[in-house]
Amino acid sequence: MYKLLNELQVCLGERSYPIMIGEGMLGKYDLSGHVCGDQVMIVTNDVVGPLYLELARGCFPGKSVDFVVLPDGEKHKNWQTLNLIFDALLEKRHTRKTTLVALGGGVVGDMTGFAAASYQRGVPFIQIPTTLLSQVDSSVGGKTGINHPLGKNMIGAFHQPEAVLIDTGTLQTLPPREVSAGLAEVIKYGLIRDTGFLGWLEQAVDQLIARDNGPLAEAIFRSCVCKADVVAQDERESGLRATLNLGHTFGHAIETFAGYGNWLHGEAVGTGMVMAADLSVREGSISQADYDRIVRIISRAGLPVSPPANMTPADFMRLMAVDKKNLDGWLRLVLLRSVGNAVVTSDASPENLAATLVAFCEQEI
Ligand code: NAD
Ligand code: GLY
Repeated sequence: MYKLLNELQVCLGERSYPIMIGEGMLGKYDLSGHVCGDQVMIVTNDVVGPLYLELARGCFPGKSVDFVVLPDGEKHKNWQTLNLIFDALLEKRHTRKTTLVALGGGVVGDMTGFAAASYQRGVPFIQIPTTLLSQVDSSVGGKTGINHPLGKNMIGAFHQPEAVLIDTGTLQTLPPREVSAGLAEVIKYGLIRDTGFLGWLEQAVDQLIARDNGPLAEAIFRSCVCKADVVAQDERESGLRATLNLGHTFGHAIETFAGYGNWLHGEAVGTGMVMAADLSVREGSISQADYDRIVRIISRAGLPVSPPANMTPADFMRLMAVDKKNLDGWLRLVLLRSVGNAVVTSDASPENLAATLVAFCEQEI
């Protein structure tokens, strides 16, 4: 039998949906109640498919289940790969009553969600996230999309899932580097809105890296509570939701510079949060001791704390200029007002930003 450890709701009126967190859920937990018609298309990739596809099929008793296996990796989060989903849906004659199921990490989740948002002008989908990062962040909140060579996640849509099923057991097969990448987003919640959670993480980080199931399930639950709360207040990112992007402006620049997939998203966010913390010190809102605390927890999670050695301040400025948060030509950044309180601002002093970039880049030009 499976063990359902926690369940919570993302409250969005008629688009509300549950997040179920447990152990041994894959193959045992019946998701067919979240499927409106008879057809299901599971979308996975060539790493996750061999591990979990057969089990996942078992979540849809009585339904006609097809599947499509995508090539693995961030570098495939593009139009060509997205089209493979549409090819499979059309070849198998899936109608408007189909339900898509994302089985994999954030890459599969974002692409499946975008396919669901646009296939026959929109069909439902379910998230079964299998990486720590996707369990604590990307599977919740309805941001879907693909990358463009000129910018990350630049093409996409908001489309909420019908349900999110999190089986913590899948994390046992995850490479260690991916566990650390997921921890970046977990730490982010502590930094932007929950100092109690940050303190707990400082105690639990070694157990989390060792994949101790109890602390992992707790970290996932507390992260999902934070994310669900923010999404319920600001689904379309008109304000508060942008604080979930702490470290992401610097991080997306690093990911784009390094080439998609060379730096993991969570690794880039880890370094990005350190850079945002440095700028927050320069802006006078957090102390050097706060900064040191932030660097310590990010390093202990096994994440890098400085950008690629060959990246220059000019590279950052060029790549940050295409960030989705920017408005009317102004660079908008998420900074810390204090530990546990983040703000989105276009008021950071250009001199302080330049000083942060120079401090973190080995080459100045
Ligand atoms: P990923 O999807 O590339 O997965 C990481 C790697 O782990 C891949 O090789 C994958 O095949 C493999 N994998 C997945 N589950 C596994 C398992 N259980 N065992 C073994 N291997 C497994 O990366 P990710 O970190 O999950 O997601 C990153 C993506 O998520 C980025 O594209 C990022 O932009 C996106 N993202 C989206 C949101 C959102 O709100 N939509 C939020 C954060 C990140
Ligand atoms: N990961 C940022 C968001 O969902 O808004």
